Amino acid sequence: MNPPCNTTPKHIAIIMDGNGRWAKKRGLPRAAGHQAGFRTTRDIVEACARRGIKALTLFAFSSENWARPEQEVGLLMDLFLRGLKSEVSKLHDNGVCINFIGERSAFSEKLQNEMSSAESITVENTGLHLSVAVNYGGRWDIVNAARKLALQVQQGTIQPNDITIDSFSSAVTLSKVTEPDLFIRTGGEKRISNYLLWHLAYTELYFTDVLYPDFSDAELENAITFFAGRQRRFGKTGDQVTGKHA
Ligand code: FPP
Repeated sequence: MNPPCNTTPKHIAIIMDGNGRWAKKRGLPRAAGHQAGFRTTRDIVEACARRGIKALTLFAFSSENWARPEQEVGLLMDLFLRGLKSEVSKLHDNGVCINFIGERSAFSEKLQNEMSSAESITVENTGLHLSVAVNYGGRWDIVNAARKLALQVQQGTIQPNDITIDSFSSAVTLSKVTEPDLFIRTGGEKRISNYLLWHLAYTELYFTDVLYPDFSDAELENAITFFAGRQRRFGKTGDQVTGKHA
């Protein structure tokens, strides 16, 4: 058997699922689940920074989440706005660099301004790179990158042959960080749900039944232990990876 060969992941991407069920189990409104999810997010960001993880990408609101009841969408927007206002200065003090990925023009001007302000306040920080996916979809990301490159071809700054995997990777979101090493989905579903479709090509996938509000530091540790036990071959044989054969 090949020995495991991973250490701590550099980049973790999370689908934070199960807030609604967590609340329902307790006879609470879904809002309470999202609020509890928000508290978990604070803890997870702190835990990742403490562990020296370089990048964390969180799926906070998908392009499909607009289909939820208006009241729940409003509540989530309110939570994001209040959350940004209350957390940014602490994140900044801790060296966290925040950015948002997704089609943000659909959000209120107030929220867009808060997002831009959080990004510009923390842009120089060299600690944890925290990306929050809002109104995000993996297919949107790929189409958006294709459009950017097509425009460059139209303007004559590049030729069609200049479109390569590397240039495409620079055109999708998250181009400043390495691709996620570890993907975590809480809440029991085993799907990627249109998250980071381009970026997850070689990512290790970890699914847990734990509902997001219960996803503690110990649960994060379990996911990291799972990652440490995986052998990442990137298409090579196990022996090539371990250096047994050239
Ligand atoms: C999915 O659970 C969760 C969401 C759509 C919202 C996620 C948002 C947070 C955890 C707040 C974090 C905020 C920031 C700013 C990062 P669900 O509602 O689909 O749960 P269910 O499947 O049990 O119904």
